[in-house]
Amino acid sequence: MRTIAISGSASGIGAATRTMLEADGHTVIGIDLRDAEVTADLSIDDGRHAAVAEVLDRCDGVLDGFVPGAGLGPPVPAGLIAEVNYFGSEVLLAGLRPALAAAGAASVVQIGSNSTTLTPNLPDALVDAFLARDRDTVAAVLDEAGEPFNSAIAYGASKTAITRWCRRHAVTDEWVGQGIRLNVIAPGAVQTPLLKGGDDDPTFGPLTSKLPVPTGRGTPDDIASWITFMLSPAARFACGAVVFVDGGSDAVVRTDDWPRTFSM
Ligand SMILES: NC(=O)c1ccc[n+]([C@@H]2O[C@H](COP(=O)([O-])OP(=O)(O)OC[C@H]3O[C@@H](n4cnc5c(N)ncnc54)[C@H](O)[C@@H]3O)[C@@H](O)[C@H]2O)c1
Repeated sequence: MRTIAISGSASGIGAATRTMLEADGHTVIGIDLRDAEVTADLSIDDGRHAAVAEVLDRCDGVLDGFVPGAGLGPPVPAGLIAEVNYFGSEVLLAGLRPALAAAGAASVVQIGSNSTTLTPNLPDALVDAFLARDRDTVAAVLDEAGEPFNSAIAYGASKTAITRWCRRHAVTDEWVGQGIRLNVIAPGAVQTPLLKGGDDDPTFGPLTSKLPVPTGRGTPDDIASWITFMLSPAARFACGAVVFVDGGSDAVVRTDDWPRTFSM
């Protein structure tokens, strides 16, 4: 049986993933603001570093899996979304990597989002600023975008940046070279408190309700079942993959915008 850390374990997709893993006999180290083995605020550096230290202590330096899932969405202020969704994942990914390497065959499933492909006009400069850890530029671009829509931009750009971070690192000596498979799941509209926060907002509610979801909205279990599969050895050939599980939203909005090719 494996030991797996999950951030955002107290609610929604993280909580459903915890339940499935524990039902299969695995040990979960939950990280969240409340109701978790590791209580930590991932919006600040002290909280992130404390979380890394406590997880390393609890797993004795050997971790079989990690699901960075803590996240915030609109209408939460843009700066807070940026801190939790990008830096709250990136610092833990880097900090827990040695323990994942120590396991010999570990698996990480970052929770991304289909907002990466479905948010119009995401500024490249913002995605680049996240990846460069350039917080001044992140703040400047979000200020310029202005409230309230900068929170949607912060959401889509932070998820795009952390997805690119994962793809960049997945194929390196430090990750796949150490036996760590790093992949991303990109959910669509899933009924959780995060999505309800958008639904209930007078600005964002009318917009989120217009997003087509051909299957109807998902449940946390609909995503947790994919995450548990991606964590398992049965998914051993997936590396740097971005798996869209969004009830068809991306396919219906961007039907023929696939595949993108590249020149050499
Ligand atoms: N629900 C959706 O429609 C949807 C779609 C795409 C992606 N996602 C992503 O799925 C992940 C899980 O979200 P969810 O929908 O289950 O939402 P949720 O609100 O149910 O769960 C998010 C969890 O993150 C935790 N969290 C928030 N800020 C934190 C902080 N500063 N420090 C520590 N923990 C913090 C919350 O306490 C909560 O337990 C998020 O990364 C979200 O962006 C959700």
